[in-house]
Amino acid sequence: KSRTKIKALLATEPTGQDVTVMGWVRNFRSNRFIALNDGSTINNVQIVVDFENTDESILKRITTSACLKITGKLIASQGSGQSVEIQAESVEILGDSDAEKYPIQPKKHSLEFLRENAHLRFRTATFSAVFRIRHTIAQAIHKFFSEKGFVYLHTPIITASDAEGAGEMFRVTTLPIDGSAPRNEDGSIDFSEDFFGKSTNLTVSGQLEGELGATALGEIYTFGPTFRAENSNTTRHLAEFWMVEPEMAFYDLEDNQDLAEEFIQYIIKYAMEQNADDLKFLDQRLKDEEKSLPQDKRQEFGLLEKLEFVTNNKFERITYTEAIDILLNSSHYKKKKFKFDISWGTDLQSEHERYLVEKHFKKPVIVTNYPAAIKSFYMRLNDGCEEGRQTVAAMDILAPGIGEIVGGSQREERYERLVARMEEMGVPVEELSWFLDTRRYGTCPHAGFGLGFERMVQFVTGMGNIRDVIPFARTPKNCEF
Ligand code: 4AD
Ligand code: MG
Repeated sequence: KSRTKIKALLATEPTGQDVTVMGWVRNFRSNRFIALNDGSTINNVQIVVDFENTDESILKRITTSACLKITGKLIASQGSGQSVEIQAESVEILGDSDAEKYPIQPKKHSLEFLRENAHLRFRTATFSAVFRIRHTIAQAIHKFFSEKGFVYLHTPIITASDAEGAGEMFRVTTLPIDGSAPRNEDGSIDFSEDFFGKSTNLTVSGQLEGELGATALGEIYTFGPTFRAENSNTTRHLAEFWMVEPEMAFYDLEDNQDLAEEFIQYIIKYAMEQNADDLKFLDQRLKDEEKSLPQDKRQEFGLLEKLEFVTNNKFERITYTEAIDILLNSSHYKKKKFKFDISWGTDLQSEHERYLVEKHFKKPVIVTNYPAAIKSFYMRLNDGCEEGRQTVAAMDILAPGIGEIVGGSQREERYERLVARMEEMGVPVEELSWFLDTRRYGTCPHAGFGLGFERMVQFVTGMGNIRDVIPFARTPKNCEF
């Protein structure tokens, strides 16, 4: 088997050597030029068909998306736009594709249209670039943490707990769903009859299990699918998304911010090194798309400029209280341009987050020390807060074009305070007794965060909709395959 991948082939010195490639037709012009792609690179290889000596019956079968095996000679290209091409000596059809019926034509399709044909969108230049970059970012995550000596800890998908205490879980049960499930005296379903003997759900976060790991192994990270049964139809929410969650013993909030910033910059740099061609393509794609917009709606910077900037500049760091002050003093607020009202104690809405990063600072921003009342039970209470303004050692990282990309905190390591907070917030103390053991036996200061993997891929690729950066998006009313 002497197949050469197109990526390698395009980097080869052409000396008329024999080569074999296999791939799918992107385009076939003038009965002569095939643009063939095999997924190894955004670039197609040009194949020149000797149409006078090729069977008419074969020529007819060279249609968009047909799968071909080509053998021929690699020569320097006569045409502009590519350095090499293949002078075909044999064209073998591995798989026909009915050009009339094939949904994706060699023209520009809208992302919405391609979302409806998500099963075939991998075959487009845009989506193949996005998914190669997604792969690279996943590799970068493992590389970054491995190099730092973090242990990759696999946390369970099926759990009995609600790590965020927000009640947004998908149920997992083997009990019948037709109403015949066994009942308790009060009419509720009796989960003791279930496979797991109790009520279980898909995990919303691996953090609590991650804390068990960190308070023994020192530094760990989880990286896997998480699930949220929140009915949000936005460009930034999925019901099934991937999250990276590092958890570190002996880190405080500042260490946590330093790590998150270094991590994000590392991922971007790595993708820029590994996927230069893909990013160049996506950068141009965005520029083309913007041409149809009025001048004032266009981005100030291109994708590549943005990524370059973010890797070379420190993120802004402000407290929640400072963020509220900035918003209240903005002309945007005074002109009543925000839909949601702002006052100390309310959560930042995405319009507020985007104002801070896109209009005010024009760079990623880390917001810390949020009001305790709007954050999860496990976050560490800050000492010495003003009366009525209790905050926690939380941090959210906000990114231009995305909003919240990271959520994290220093954890409450003090047993009594944690239990009091759980009781106050209605989190079941008994059920989380295993979690509280970390505080009972040799507790330690520790911190961690969660990076939304798809939001990170959105940021790097510039894709506006989160459905376009995950191969198979799960959103409300959408689960075809
Ligand atoms: O802010 P969140 O809910 O934090 C946690 O789950 C913590 N347990 C993380 C930790 O400290 N270990 O989620 C973390 C990140 C968000 O900042 C966001 O990027 C992403 O996960 N995220 C989502 N991404 C896509 N779709 C959703 N529905 C998401 N919900 C959160
Ligand atoms: Mg959050």
